[in-house]
Amino acid sequence: MIKIVTIIGARPQIIKAAALSRAIKNKFKDKITEIIVHTGQHYDSNMSQVFFDELNIPQPDYNLNVGSGTHGKQTATMISGIEEILLKEKPNAIILYGDTNSTLAGGVAASKIHVPVIHIEAGLRSFSKAMPEEVNRIMCDHVSTLLFSPTKTGYNNLIREGFNPDAKMPYNADNPKIYHCGDVMYDNSLHFSEVAGSKTDIIQKLQLKKNKFILATIHRNNNTDEPDRLNALFKSLNDISLKQDLDVVLPLHPRTSKLLETNLTSENLAAVKNNHGFKILGPVSFLEMIALEKNCKLVMTDSGGVQKEAFYFEKPCIILRPETEWVELVECGAAIVTDANEDKIKAAFDKLFTDDHLQFPKLYGDGRAAEFICEELIRHL
Ligand code: UD1
Ligand code: UDP
Repeated sequence: MIKIVTIIGARPQIIKAAALSRAIKNKFKDKITEIIVHTGQHYDSNMSQVFFDELNIPQPDYNLNVGSGTHGKQTATMISGIEEILLKEKPNAIILYGDTNSTLAGGVAASKIHVPVIHIEAGLRSFSKAMPEEVNRIMCDHVSTLLFSPTKTGYNNLIREGFNPDAKMPYNADNPKIYHCGDVMYDNSLHFSEVAGSKTDIIQKLQLKKNKFILATIHRNNNTDEPDRLNALFKSLNDISLKQDLDVVLPLHPRTSKLLETNLTSENLAAVKNNHGFKILGPVSFLEMIALEKNCKLVMTDSGGVQKEAFYFEKPCIILRPETEWVELVECGAAIVTDANEDKIKAAFDKLFTDDHLQFPKLYGDGRAAEFICEELIRHL
């Protein structure tokens, strides 16, 4: 029996972790024991608890309750809490997801006391170190022993950074193993897609019509914190909604909600409030999000996860960032990167809205990435 400590903290990590916990419960419970540590980076019920309830994730064994704070303070508090747990639990490995401060903290805490680091979602790069996430993911990758990349691009990025694709066992932080293994988020989307329609009534509640609304999310720090960018995004969304007679559904991250009144111009705020088709909500549950993704006409987002989910459900996507780590979405024409630029957003919308020949090839595995990862953990730990 191997023992792993899984670190989660931010919304997308809780969702990603569901795939591995499910695989362990269904196929590997005699071989893997999982201890779940919630750092408390996200703590509102609709940013955390809702996912445990809805996705059947075991309740965390530990919660560090770090809450919000500056990068340094938040990460430092997590490092100290995670270290204490690792020393007590003595696991065979730590499992880290993605690129948040919780990921970085887990990587630092574990590598310093020689607990092998397993990084799920390794190798993704935006090539912009201005993004806190880029720093987190690079640092985590470079202390990892097993690196699971969801895409070929991510796998190739690792090779470019010096990882050896032909490394031989036994693996350790100085002789790591890299994999291209598909995406645990795709596992989840496939698994929960069937029930999303019957277990939620968000489409009816909001009186939405299929293919008659845009689903949008905005939470990236540069978009929320820079008023010019936030205004450009809201103005573009509102103009498109009015011109095309489409509703806009915008489940807002608390970071964004808190900055609307301060960072939007009064003119923009009023315009949005006067548009009855512009529906600003709080964060929705995962099943509600899937229902929205499946029924919308098009997605506009600066989220990493939502870009891919749009693709899984064969919806075009406008990426409201200067770049994306998920370059294959753009390469196959299903997504366009526009940054927070009004002209580019409107041009991208016109192109994607009328294109009936978009391609959505299977780029993210076969829905069994988590099972593959479990098998490799058993083989190598
Ligand atoms: C974090 C991740 C980001 C990820 C996002 C997913 C880092 C550096 N960033 O960004 O990569 O895309 O999570 O959602 O780790 N807040 C609440 N309630 C909560 C959580 C946050 O009100 O439950 C508010 C607080 O004002 C907080 C702000 O949101 O200061 C930002 O939260 P934080 O966890 O620091 O970063 P995110 O923007 O959520
Ligand atoms: N999500 C959700 N409710 C919301 C917004 C997003 O359940 O109101 C889900 C979404 O379906 C995806 C994940 O959260 O699975 C993406 O997380 P987020 O956008 O917060 O972070 P990112 O992926 O950019 O790191």
